[in-house]
Amino acid sequence: MTQPDLVTDRRIAQAHGFTLWFTGLSGAGKSTLAAAVSAELRGLGMAVEVLDGDEIRQNLSKGLGFSREDRDINIRRIGYVAKLLTRNGVAVITAAISPYRAIRDEVRESIGAFIEVYVKASLDECIRRDTKGLYRRALAGEIPQFTGVSDPYEEPVCPELVIDTEREEVPDSTARVIDRLVELGHLRSASDA
Ligand code: ADX
Repeated sequence: MTQPDLVTDRRIAQAHGFTLWFTGLSGAGKSTLAAAVSAELRGLGMAVEVLDGDEIRQNLSKGLGFSREDRDINIRRIGYVAKLLTRNGVAVITAAISPYRAIRDEVRESIGAFIEVYVKASLDECIRRDTKGLYRRALAGEIPQFTGVSDPYEEPVCPELVIDTEREEVPDSTARVIDRLVELGHLRSASDA
């Protein structure tokens, strides 16, 4: 009885790799959504890697700061790893602020199967959440070049998807990401398998 489901899952696992590129302010919900979407994709039988900004800065980008130059280096590194994984059939989810449009577009070009997801919450909401206590410090002038406070965030012009985390719950947002992947041909729905 379980056999047909296994076959279906394998077919989904044979779909090509892609990179879901989450961009948005600190505290907008990128990491939370990445965790939920990665669990969902694993459940479909895909190999998944999450490249989270905070984690990358602990290892691959250790020592980099938050000047435009350093952020661009950080994003290029994340983009490069994402490209390698993507071409090997992995579902990659990146969760870095990636505030600059030009570098996001550069990474889009190099990866190809690139789905830009704007994880959106207003600055006021991020300040209200202040999950890491960094906005309070940034507003007090203790952290220079803090995105949204004293450093720019360039909204995506034409993202494949916008997730408004002030108005949507995580399960609904997760379902919208999966639906969009099917729409764009990066995943096949079970009924097509
Ligand atoms: S990015 O701009 O290079 O994409 P990244 O996502 O890696 O940023 O790191 C952002 C995280 O670093 C934030 O969520 C926050 O925890 C921390 N951080 C520390 N200083 C800053 C700063 N000046 N601006 C933004 N985030 C900062």
